[in-house]
Amino acid sequence: MSNTTQEKNIMAYETVALDDENSALVILDQTKLPISTELVNLCTAQEIWDAIYLLKVRGAPAIGVAAAFGIYLLAKGIEAQDFDTFHQEFCRQKEYLNSARPTAVNLSWALNRMERVCTDNKALPVSEIKQKLREEAIAMKEEDIRVCKAIGEHGLTLVKPGDGILTHCNAGQLATCKYGTATAPIYLGQERGYNFRVFADETRPLLQGARLTAYELQASGVDVTLICDNMSATVMRNGWVNAVFVGCDRVAANGDTANKIGTSVVATVAKRYNVPFYVCAPTSTIDMNTPTGGDITIELRPAHEVTDMWYEKPMAPAGVKVFNPAFDVTDHDLIAGIVTEYGVVRAPYEESFKKLFERKAGERK
Ligand code: MRU
Repeated sequence: MSNTTQEKNIMAYETVALDDENSALVILDQTKLPISTELVNLCTAQEIWDAIYLLKVRGAPAIGVAAAFGIYLLAKGIEAQDFDTFHQEFCRQKEYLNSARPTAVNLSWALNRMERVCTDNKALPVSEIKQKLREEAIAMKEEDIRVCKAIGEHGLTLVKPGDGILTHCNAGQLATCKYGTATAPIYLGQERGYNFRVFADETRPLLQGARLTAYELQASGVDVTLICDNMSATVMRNGWVNAVFVGCDRVAANGDTANKIGTSVVATVAKRYNVPFYVCAPTSTIDMNTPTGGDITIELRPAHEVTDMWYEKPMAPAGVKVFNPAFDVTDHDLIAGIVTEYGVVRAPYEESFKKLFERKAGERK
């Protein structure tokens, strides 16, 4: 079910929310922005899967939280009273949701975390496990807000008032539950009078930069300039960019990172012009089970996104071969630092990540 809402500032909307009374996952449909603001209620597994696949809800952290609420709602609908039957059906639904998109590790990370709630509490009645799943999904949303804010604080130490910042795709509030990752330093700086000048790449072919990043930054009063993807070298050569902040869908153990297609081009250009290139990523996006960028599955998307979408008429010869990867890998040697909720991680990444996860494990005890 979809309903167009009364227009208010886009920053006042929740990207992902739970409407437990109506057993619905409520998302802000990002495919409609910025033209229209529509909240959509998702109730079935198919509706949740489609919303993730079609990028109605998108951005690694938002996908993770949507999946957590989604699997809770699906678990709530399981009628089985014995743990084994409940768990079997839970895993079937979990695998289905997990198949919606392959690159952002936050999807499987969130679903695995939800499954652990089931197995850790298997001795409890199924009704109590369902309550614990609800609590965990809500905790993940709250955690995302805290984590993004911490990324913002650490990112802010890397820039100074008046700086020019370039970003690619949308790693903004719309991709998370608040603040964004790459935009978190920008929003915190904005609150503190830093007066950044931000360049937002439009991000072909799905235009997340133009439709979402430019929209949310402008709505927040940030000085934002929209540029085409092929203009980043020009603004960097002109000396207008002091730092690049981008988000990330998966960080491999060696520090290679997968993010929206075109990110590695920006990183390469930044290296050429000595502009530090920072990846902003919560620790939930670091995947120590993926050794290098070459081991990351890159999602391939349909050709019409390149040939037809956004054009009044198709703009490519009918039947032309199209290569449409949704993400690319930025090699770790192009990355000046990875900004996490624990601080800025520097090369050698594998070693630094091990220390980071030891610290995280220590804090949980
Ligand atoms: O295909 P999308 O729009 O989901 O791609 C999103 C990105 O590449 C983001 O930069 C990434 O998920 C990080 S969001 C904080």
